[in-house]
Formats: sequence, structure tokens, C-alpha cells
Amino acid sequence: MIEQLESLFDSFEKSLQVLETQADVLNLKSDYLGKKGKVSEILKGLKDATPEQRKEIGPKANEIKDKIQLEMTKKLQEIEMKEINEKLAQNKIDITFKNSIKVGAQKHGGFHPRTLIRQEIEDIFLSMGFEVLDGPHVENEFYNFEALNIPGDHPARDMQDTFWFKDEKSEEGKKHLLRTHTSTVQVHGMLSRKPPFRFIAPGTVFRCERTDASHEMVFQQLEGMMVGKDISVGNLIYFMKVALKEIFKRDVEVRLRPGFFPFVEPGFELDIKCQVCSGKGCSVCKQTGWVELLPCGMVHPNVLKAGGIDPEEYNGFAFGLGLDRLVMMKYGIDDIRHLQSGDLRFNEQFKTY
Ligand code: PHE
Repeated sequence: MIEQLESLFDSFEKSLQVLETQADVLNLKSDYLGKKGKVSEILKGLKDATPEQRKEIGPKANEIKDKIQLEMTKKLQEIEMKEINEKLAQNKIDITFKNSIKVGAQKHGGFHPRTLIRQEIEDIFLSMGFEVLDGPHVENEFYNFEALNIPGDHPARDMQDTFWFKDEKSEEGKKHLLRTHTSTVQVHGMLSRKPPFRFIAPGTVFRCERTDASHEMVFQQLEGMMVGKDISVGNLIYFMKVALKEIFKRDVEVRLRPGFFPFVEPGFELDIKCQVCSGKGCSVCKQTGWVELLPCGMVHPNVLKAGGIDPEEYNGFAFGLGLDRLVMMKYGIDDIRHLQSGDLRFNEQFKTY
């Protein structure tokens, strides 16, 4: 019986080796260890054995049962690990997306050309020691007009057609409006800091006017202001030339003419040679070959006063760059209305990556 038991273990091991599922292993278990299993079958012979033989056979039978149990447990674990590994291989998640997405096939966004230029100009002015300020779109007449030397009855108010609000007046009895220029930020800037200072303020402005190739109702300006002691027109021209050279990455032809704005004295218009038609004449430059890009001038003493600054002690310059015009010049765009058409075919041409 001892030999029978040992050869039984050998045959169990052989059958176990080839099994691949847990169910088969469990069946094999009951074939061998079950009530009517092979081990029990052999042990039936015990009744004919001598007491000495029984002493030997009993522990041997237990040893064989334990070995079978142990081998089976190992096999079950082995099968389980194999199944887990197979599942993992099937459901593998490719966190790099290398295999699931064709590189280059996906659509991704890009910056609007306006944003690209604004960021570039911000960097240029930051490197020249300017702060970058922001201001509200909804203002009252004090910030948009009065503080900028344009009193209520002043004809200059008609220069900029304004979107007025029908709502209640502000606490100080001022009417609300959508800012018609970023010069409002000059006032906020002056009231919240002490000279000397220099800052730029890019942002959206609104005018109630008819649109054409070079006019929009909603467009972008970039205001600049520098206040200190003994600032001259020379300083103004220097800063403007450096900025334009950096923006266009080359010397662009400019011309300076006198210009009237109530908040500067003297005031200038800085024009640049039309980059769309190279000065030959087109719809953007209204056939003149030149584009008005940069109105500027020395800050009017009344404006400094409204900003809480003593004009006897300090002076400064200010400018208002037409950001959309600049985008058009830089990229040779012939109609300002493309900029906010929302047409992706337009926007996609400016992707930088
Ligand atoms: N705010 C003026 C405009 O919108 C531009 C300007 C700014 C002119 C600063 C002079 C100085 O037209």
C-alpha cells in the first residue's frame, strides 16, 4: 500500500502538470482526495492490514494527502497569476497614447495673433521697466473723459462715438459707458501710484461706429504712460522707435505729424509705412500708403492734476497703440474684421507650435 500511495502521488503530479484551469484542478482534487477518491480507495485496504502495517500506512497516507493539497494550492495560484497577467496584457492602458493616437493627427488650439503680439509687446515693455496694468471695460465719464481733459460740453466727446448705459448714474452722479479707449487706465494708474512710474495697459475698447476694412466696434489698444521728472519728447520718440523695431524685427519707416488729443500737449500721430501694400496704396491704408498706428504726446497738465500729480514737479508722455492695426501690419492682413470673425481657417494660420 505504501508503494501504491507513492505511485498515486506520482500519477497525481503528472496529471496536475498539464492542467490549465482552476476548475480542472478542483476536479482532480476530488478525484484524489474526495470521499470516493483514489486515496480513500487505497485506504479501504487498511482493514486487511496488520497493526504494524497500519502504523506505517496511516502517517504515509496523511503525508501524501498533505503533499497533494500543497501541490494543488501552488497550481491554483500559478493559474490565477497567469490569468491576471493575461488580462493585464489585454487591457493595457497606453498612458503615452503613442499607439492609440496618430501623432500630428490631433487638432490643438493656438493663440490668436492678437494674443501673440500682445504678449510680445508686454515682454518688450517689461524689459524696459514698465508695469502691465489692466482696467475695467465699464467705466464712468470721469475716467473716460473728464479726467482726460474732456469736459461734458467738449466737442472732443464726439471724436469717439460712445456706447452709453441707460442705467443709474454712479455714486458721484456720473454716467456709465463702455470705455472708448484704454486711456482710462492712465487715470487709474496715476491715482494708485506715486511718480516716477511707467506702465502699459493692453485691452479691449468699444466704439459705436460703422465697420469697414480698418474699423471695428470692438478692438484692442495698448496704452502706455511714463511719468517722472524732466521727461521729453525725445524720450517718447526713443521708446516708440525701440518698441516698433523689436516688434517688426526690422526698421520700419515711420513719420510723425502733429495730432490733436485733449489729454496730450503737444500731441502727435505716429504713422508707419503700410506693410500690407508696402506703401503703394490699398484698402487698409485708404490708398495713402501710411497707417495711423500710434497716437501719442506729452501728458496734459490738467490730466496730471486729475490724477493727483503736481504738473509743476512732474511731467510725462502717453501713447495709445492700435493693437489690431499692428497685427494687420505685422501679418499683412487686409481686413480688421477677420480678427474676430471666429473663422478657424483664419486663426489656424497663426499657430506657433
Ligand atoms: N486714447 C487715444 C485714442 O483712442 C489715443 C491716445 C492715447 C492718444 C494716448 C494720445 C495719447 O484715440
